[in-house]
Amino acid sequence: MKITMIGSGYVGLVSGACFADFGHDVTCVDKDAGKIEALKAGRIPIFEPGLDGLVAANVAAGRLAFSTDIATCVREADVVFIAVGTPSRRGDGHADLSYVYGAAREIAENVSGFTVVVTKSTVPVGTGDEVERIMRETNPEADIAVVSNPEFLREGAAIDDFKRPDRIVVGLDDERARAVMTEAYRPLYLNQAPLLFTTRRTSELIKYASNAFLALKITFINEMADLCEKVGANVQEVARGIGLDGRIGPKFLHAGPGYGGSCFPKDTLALVKTAQDYDSPVRLIETTVAVNDNRKRAMGRKIIHAVGGDVRGKRIAVLGLTFKPNTDDMRDSPAIAIIQALQDAGAAIVAYDPEGIDNARKLIEGVDYADNAYHASEGADAVVIVTEWNQFRALDFTRLKTVMKAPILIDLRNIYRPEEVARHGFSYTSVGRAD
Ligand code: UGA
Repeated sequence: MKITMIGSGYVGLVSGACFADFGHDVTCVDKDAGKIEALKAGRIPIFEPGLDGLVAANVAAGRLAFSTDIATCVREADVVFIAVGTPSRRGDGHADLSYVYGAAREIAENVSGFTVVVTKSTVPVGTGDEVERIMRETNPEADIAVVSNPEFLREGAAIDDFKRPDRIVVGLDDERARAVMTEAYRPLYLNQAPLLFTTRRTSELIKYASNAFLALKITFINEMADLCEKVGANVQEVARGIGLDGRIGPKFLHAGPGYGGSCFPKDTLALVKTAQDYDSPVRLIETTVAVNDNRKRAMGRKIIHAVGGDVRGKRIAVLGLTFKPNTDDMRDSPAIAIIQALQDAGAAIVAYDPEGIDNARKLIEGVDYADNAYHASEGADAVVIVTEWNQFRALDFTRLKTVMKAPILIDLRNIYRPEEVARHGFSYTSVGRAD
């Protein structure tokens, strides 16, 4: 099967490489000639564990190629995936669909023979209808079926999520397209991954409802964490106590500094906007968005309190900048608002992140960067763990204490046991554990 992936960003690249690994013949297309040149030369523009090896193996096997020539790639394809960005539109929070619609037009101009056009980008309900309208208007002769097939890939674990999915959701109303999509996912289908066929609109909503529910779940446990601190309870035990109930489940109940990333903040906001447009507001998600936004800056106040109430002229070391580990993605990372709040209060910030520093430099001003956790902590009045990278899970406390000015550790991801840190003579603050 010949697959063309329009958009060689995060989703396009991971999906393209995985489809090639299933044995399909895949070309990833992008308008950015620099990106395509880099990919052809074997350079992967994003950090995602395992992706470089997967791309290299499939390129070597002749199943994966890169191109800027959308016309040829669309003409030759059985399936064309649209995997372009849908950023929040500046000003109103709606998803910006101009790249999706632009791709739809270009596909329509070039299709030949029956072609399944699949939207993988995260798009609001009704976008598939508009994609189909645009394509039929651009080329009334085109023999196409427009399908919705949202992605559920977590950054840092994307390849595993693609190859071992909880489910694959496919929204369509065309039997020929159903056969093509079953064939595209054949290896997963044979492994009995649930392949859920729905209507296009339902499929589009499943994507937003999934992300919104997960964001809600995180926000719920974060509020429980605040309450735990007030009433003298332990949020990790609360999470375990409720998560063992099969109806609730243990995942996405880790309290922390608030969710960030390229998906939850954007998708929750877009769902809120869609729901308002349809006069069916989703108040729980409106509240989730507001609570999460407030939380990031509140973490700044928590740090200031842990340091004694005044950080003016103090040096704070921040460990971890990306919105989660195993990515270099800084989009909507809680670290941004936390550092801003500390700087506003007069603190000097020195930061270290294993992969995120280049991106952080573009987003945060006035920060000194170090090349490891101990260099960052030299002369620091406090160390704050913002992102739970594995290398921060086994810090050498003796060494840390020696280089720091004062032994104060604020752990916003609860990666340490309070007794353990206290034993080393640290003042320790974590989240939702009334220690
Ligand atoms: C998320 C979803 O998990 C994917 O299923 C989805 O496909 C993707 O968005 C998307 O729409 O493209 P991702 O943003 O990569 O994936 O990262 P998550 O692992 O979901 O984490 C998101 C944020 O929630 C991070 O800031 C993380 O630290 C935070 N989080 C997560 C918590 O604070 N607590 C938790 O228990 C889990």
